[in-house]
Amino acid sequence: MEPQEILSFISSRASAKVPGDGEVSLEEIIRALEVATSAPSAHNSQPWRFVVVKDPGVKEMLLEEMAKAWRKDLREDGLDEKSIDEIVKASTERSMRASAIIVACLTMDDMHEYPDDRRRMCEHTMAVQSVAAAIENMLLAFHAMGISACWRSSALFAPEAVRKVLRIPDRFEPQAIVEVSRGGTSSKPPRKPLNEVACLNFWGNAIR
Ligand SMILES: Cc1cc2nc3c(=O)[nH]c(=O)nc-3n(C[C@H](O)[C@H](O)[C@H](O)COP(=O)(O)O)c2cc1C
Repeated sequence: MEPQEILSFISSRASAKVPGDGEVSLEEIIRALEVATSAPSAHNSQPWRFVVVKDPGVKEMLLEEMAKAWRKDLREDGLDEKSIDEIVKASTERSMRASAIIVACLTMDDMHEYPDDRRRMCEHTMAVQSVAAAIENMLLAFHAMGISACWRSSALFAPEAVRKVLRIPDRFEPQAIVEVSRGGTSSKPPRKPLNEVACLNFWGNAIR
């Protein structure tokens, strides 16, 4: 592949907001996880951990438990029960279509320890950034294999639910789920012009 083709390929990745109903094999997921774990990480700590949920029963339990936590949040936001039902049901049904759900977790096990909050927070942020790099690698790997994927933050909002169903010990922090399927629907939303998000030398100085 020529560099231009590789760059176009990276740019053409898009989130499959509606998963397709085609099967993704465990072998394909393992290949994507291998690529995910080749991502850079702070101190090469590799603070990512993944749980691949393939079993439909486990997937259902996971989505139901996360839905309970989400319902609670929406109730606290003041939404009425009918609206909550509609929102949660639509999302859960969509996620159920996915062939697999990959839960990405973070661990501070191999990160540096500091006595002060400021540096502890920096270390935690570095771990989050490392896990995010691995997730992006994973999305690109699925894209290369023609597999639909979508990064969803639901696990971050319902960590106890995720830990409970998947039997994840407390020190692992659920960060995201990646839904994988075949034949999903995506439409890449537009990006801000580069001049709005990048500067040259000084803040506010146009990049081009
Ligand atoms: C940290 C993060 C959290 C996301 N959470 C969700 C989510 O909860 N639900 C969802 O449908 N998409 C989620 N996405 C996908 C974004 O909506 C998507 O990447 C964005 O709209 C750009 O579209 P594209 O990925 O097709 O380029 C998330 C993406 C990131 C990086």
